[in-house]
Amino acid sequence: MSLKNIAIIGGGNLGTAIAEGLMISKYAKASQISITRRNTELLKDLKAKGVSVSSDNKAAVKKADIILLCIKPFQVKEVLTEISKSLNKHQILISVVSSTSISEIKNILKTDLQIFRAMPNTAIAISESMTCLAHDNSPKKDVDAVVNLFNKLGRSVIIEEKLMEAATIIGACGTAFAMRYIRANIQGGIEIGFDAKTASLIVAQTVKGAAQLLIQNGTHPEQEIDKVTTPKGCTIAGLNEMEHNGLSSSLIKGITESYKKIAKN
Ligand SMILES: NC(=O)c1ccc[n+]([C@@H]2O[C@H](COP(=O)([O-])OP(=O)(O)OC[C@H]3O[C@@H](n4cnc5c(N)ncnc54)[C@H](OP(=O)(O)O)[C@@H]3O)[C@@H](O)[C@H]2O)c1
Repeated sequence: MSLKNIAIIGGGNLGTAIAEGLMISKYAKASQISITRRNTELLKDLKAKGVSVSSDNKAAVKKADIILLCIKPFQVKEVLTEISKSLNKHQILISVVSSTSISEIKNILKTDLQIFRAMPNTAIAISESMTCLAHDNSPKKDVDAVVNLFNKLGRSVIIEEKLMEAATIIGACGTAFAMRYIRANIQGGIEIGFDAKTASLIVAQTVKGAAQLLIQNGTHPEQEIDKVTTPKGCTIAGLNEMEHNGLSSSLIKGITESYKKIAKN
């Protein structure tokens, strides 16, 4: 259990998912978490669990050791300006806001506290996020504290800040890409005889197992594919048909198109 108080500014999709993840992982008790948004009615479930819910950003950050900024990019200037004077140099601010750099945040805040960027995904609600982290020469003890927090919510990796947009595509948008792949498999499964519920279970667990093989064995996907493809068999026939129809090419093009979009914005 952490002894840290955490303030989550912006209790939307990601902010609430992080609050849930922090409690499920037992990183923090509900009483150690404060979460804010203007429409607090939408946070009643967290309030019922004992999380401190309010729309007072200044009060929330004052008593926090770690502040998680979970608002939209266009809200950053207003919210940071509002909380700026309530922050102190012993706190750590972690921004999950896409496309807003550490130097932009520093320029608005003008407070000498440690600033991190984090790019988690929505699986953070069940402590299965992949979170990419970046900082600007923060001391090791603060880096360790932030890595420790996100490792409780899945896995994390420190990357250079210039790769944060790429991390957004592959890590955060990646959840949607994976879901579409899974959905297509379910549709195929229904066509060959399963009801939707059974197909969904088979596909989701199969995809989870495939990913776990790579994570636990450290193998390359093609090594695992080789184990499944019998010469002249059904797996290679299906795989090659998918490739003739552009499976890999379509995924790579989709990822680069998403990246072009984020890089342009
Ligand atoms: N969703 C993802 O998978 C994901 C992954 C990685 C990073 N991100 C990034 O995380 C950020 C949040 O994304 P999201 O999907 O969680 O967005 P969201 O659901 O719109 O959440 C943003 C929240 O901020 C609140 N808010 C707005 N102004 C506020 C203020 N002045 N004070 C306090 N709260 C305020 C909004 O609630 P009220 O309107 O009620 O105030 C809203 O609940 C974005 O920058 C996004 O790019 C998202």
